[in-house]
Amino acid sequence: MTGTTDASSVPGHIAIIMDGNGRWAQRRGLSRSEGHRAGTRTAKAVVTRCRELGVRHLTLYTFSRENWSRPKDEVGLIFDLLVEYMKGELGNLLEQDIRLKVLGEMDGLPFVVRQSLSHVMSKTAHCRAMTLNLALNYSGREEILRACRALAAKGLAPEAITEDAFAAELYTAGQPDPDLIIRTSGELRLSNYLLFQAAYAEFYFTETLWPDFDEAELERALAHYQSRQRRFGKTGEQVAD
Ligand code: IPE
Ligand code: IPE
Ligand code: MG
Repeated sequence: MTGTTDASSVPGHIAIIMDGNGRWAQRRGLSRSEGHRAGTRTAKAVVTRCRELGVRHLTLYTFSRENWSRPKDEVGLIFDLLVEYMKGELGNLLEQDIRLKVLGEMDGLPFVVRQSLSHVMSKTAHCRAMTLNLALNYSGREEILRACRALAAKGLAPEAITEDAFAAELYTAGQPDPDLIIRTSGELRLSNYLLFQAAYAEFYFTETLWPDFDEAELERALAHYQSRQRRFGKTGEQVAD
């Protein structure tokens, strides 16, 4: 499923790689935990602002499968913050009509984390203004393999394995592809994020560290997106017609 075709409007789906919490803390002589805490505040503000702007799908890279290789304390703190966020934000999500979804292997998450996510997901299942996807214990390659396994298990004939049939087995089933992918902190890579869905996304990279990504930064990313011409393989002239 492709996303919004017209770049002059607000992107229908924004996906963000929220990077740079550790460096933000380090530069201030703070612990990495403080960086993640500050990053959570930024995430809350970005969710609200995207909802106000009329973005229909927002995906936040919250914890990659590869992030398990970080020190145990840091991993624990990230999950503690997540549980805290779920407790504190349920009311706000409902008020803003935001539905929560998880992209990733939920079974691999600690029980309390799963429990709090499931609670918020079921309470917000009816919300329609925006879908907030948290990519958690997520790996783009694993997501693709998982879709292959699901199709194989269904015993589909090779010719029945279409792009639509494949996309329907991804965590993002039923949602449009991201129109805009933002990565903060100056790193220029995807880090195993939305590999299948990113096919025609526009990219916006900024040196700004995630905790400093404020409303003005979001506006800049959107202005950049709106200045792009999306071609989907056509010539510039064809698209301009
Ligand atoms: C992003 O910030 C948050 C997660 C990956 C969970 P980092 O923790 O990667 O920050 P840097 O890249 O070390 O600065
Ligand atoms: C990507 O950031 C994952 C998240 C933002 C959750 P990382 O900081 O883990 O990515 P790498 O290791 O620099 O590629
Ligand atoms: Mg990082």
